[in-house]
Amino acid sequence: MLAILKAAQVSKIHEQGLIFKKQRRVLANVSLELEEGRTIGLMGNSGSGKTTLGKILAGLEKPSAGSVIYQGKDISRLCAKEFLEFRRAVQMVFQDPEGSLNPRKSIERSIHDVLSLIKIPKREWKERTLDILETVGLSEELLCRNPCQISGGQNQRVALARALLLNPKVVILDEPTSALDISVQAQVLNLLKNLQKNRGLGYLLISHQPEVVRFMAQEVFVLNNGCLTKSN
Ligand SMILES: Nc1ncnc2c1ncn2[C@@H]1O[C@H](COP(=O)(O)OP(=O)(O)O)[C@@H](O)[C@H]1O
Ligand SMILES: [Mg+2]
Repeated sequence: MLAILKAAQVSKIHEQGLIFKKQRRVLANVSLELEEGRTIGLMGNSGSGKTTLGKILAGLEKPSAGSVIYQGKDISRLCAKEFLEFRRAVQMVFQDPEGSLNPRKSIERSIHDVLSLIKIPKREWKERTLDILETVGLSEELLCRNPCQISGGQNQRVALARALLLNPKVVILDEPTSALDISVQAQVLNLLKNLQKNRGLGYLLISHQPEVVRFMAQEVFVLNNGCLTKSN
């Protein structure tokens, strides 16, 4: 299978400090390939650059050197329309489920925001909302609540629902279950596996939990001091 999304020799230098700028190399010549229907696991200690690599692959941060290739094209060379398509096709779901939703908006409004963004006619919102809730295994009665009024696992499902509405090909899952109780973790992981089977999604699964990565991924990589190595 051909890779749909690639990091090619990606390096990232973060600047730290206001006056005495210190440069810190977070990623050094990292190359990684993602395919549809497959999961790549990404492990590494806290601060090893996992989230940074995920954001770069999703087009949310720019690499200092190297490139991100989506469907054979360098994303820095895409026209505005192609870049928008890429940004929709590659979704990132963040670590903190509650924090990734607007705390002052009801779940329904958070979902409607996405429907409005992708220009779904208003008369279809109700049906589309119920559809996506069913896909991620949530019930309708949660719609009127705010993120703090539902559980961590439910928030994670809402975040996933919002990402799925964009019909992505690749989802970058940044520690998708580390904030959840063990029993809920298994439910969310099984949901992710089913979605992958039904939609052919490619996943980059970032996690520091070896058992989670082993359950989900066909191939596992480890980031250490900015360098990526394959794990056996
Ligand atoms: N926007 C930023 N500006 C400066 N330094 C950053 C920024 N984002 C992350 N870093 C630093 O880069 C390193 C890697 O961070 P991160 O990618 O979040 O690691 P991980 O997800 O593996 O815990 C950390 O030392 C972090 O402090
Ligand atoms: Mg992180």
